[in-house]
Amino acid sequence: MALINTKEMFRKAYEGGYSIGAFNISNLEQLQGVLEACKERNSAVIIQASKSAINYAGVDTLVSLVKTASDEIGVDCALHLDHGPDFEMAKRVIDAGFSSVMIDGSHFDYEENVAITKKVVEYAHKFDVTVEAELGVLAGTEDDVTSDVHQYTDPDQAVDFVNRTGVDSLAIAIGTSHGAFKFKGEAKLRFDILEDIQNKLPNFPIVLHGASAVDQEAVATCNQFGGDIAGAKGIPVEMLRKASSMAVCKINMDTDLRLAMTAALRKFFAENPKEFDPRKYLGAGRAAIKNVVLGKIDNVLGSKNSL
Ligand code: G3H
Ligand code: 13P
Ligand code: ZN
Repeated sequence: MALINTKEMFRKAYEGGYSIGAFNISNLEQLQGVLEACKERNSAVIIQASKSAINYAGVDTLVSLVKTASDEIGVDCALHLDHGPDFEMAKRVIDAGFSSVMIDGSHFDYEENVAITKKVVEYAHKFDVTVEAELGVLAGTEDDVTSDVHQYTDPDQAVDFVNRTGVDSLAIAIGTSHGAFKFKGEAKLRFDILEDIQNKLPNFPIVLHGASAVDQEAVATCNQFGGDIAGAKGIPVEMLRKASSMAVCKINMDTDLRLAMTAALRKFFAENPKEFDPRKYLGAGRAAIKNVVLGKIDNVLGSKNSL
């Protein structure tokens, strides 16, 4: 099975009022956990890797791994660059075989974001690779860049940006943020901005980053078995469902998978002090990832039978 781009999956997701899960991976067990869950639910999926994940695992290794695992498990998937920092990185992964890329120019000024996105789109489209860009800034940290405040996406600017760049999907800032500490007080997302963008850009796929729900049970398990994660809080599931039923076609989740895997490994080590076979503890991590993704498909994305 070849890697596929996101065009058709987003078209179907928009029409069907559901979202495609985009899950970050950097190793075999995370990848298998995600793909096994999607196989079981017959769900479309985007496997994504950040620059630091690519530095960790190797770009060619990741491409081979994702192609082979998707073949063996029997799930067509997209392999997407998450938060591509520059043209060179986007070109590098396209040349290596990624089927989709994000160019994240959200930290540049507007004209620079337009220019870099356009350049990536021109290159990517020659190879039938789809491109996601970002407009507005999410609070929190992504790769090396940190922002303390949200800069919500301006709907009129979004229209201008999409028209001028020819980008295939757009990540927007409506109050989500990366990592495990998203809200101090009550969770709040600007659905009015999402609605405005949807009205101004009909049928255009919108992407939500920083969309982990931060399962309190996983946090509690981490802490029960030696972890120290205090005050973690994510996006309420009902809000993600609502976004999925609107123009949001791709929901990015990384933190929830990290927490689940860490909780499973901590528990495993605490309960099996004599065990030192990596297949046993990484197998427990893989099972935990699969379980989280099954829950996401059922309760957040609504993407069952979308393959
Ligand atoms: O948005 C960022 C993703 O969670 C990737 O994180 O750069 O640590 O791989 P990473
Ligand atoms: P979370 O940190 O909420 O999982 O978001 C991940 C993400 O947006 C990856 O691009
Ligand atoms: Zn992100």
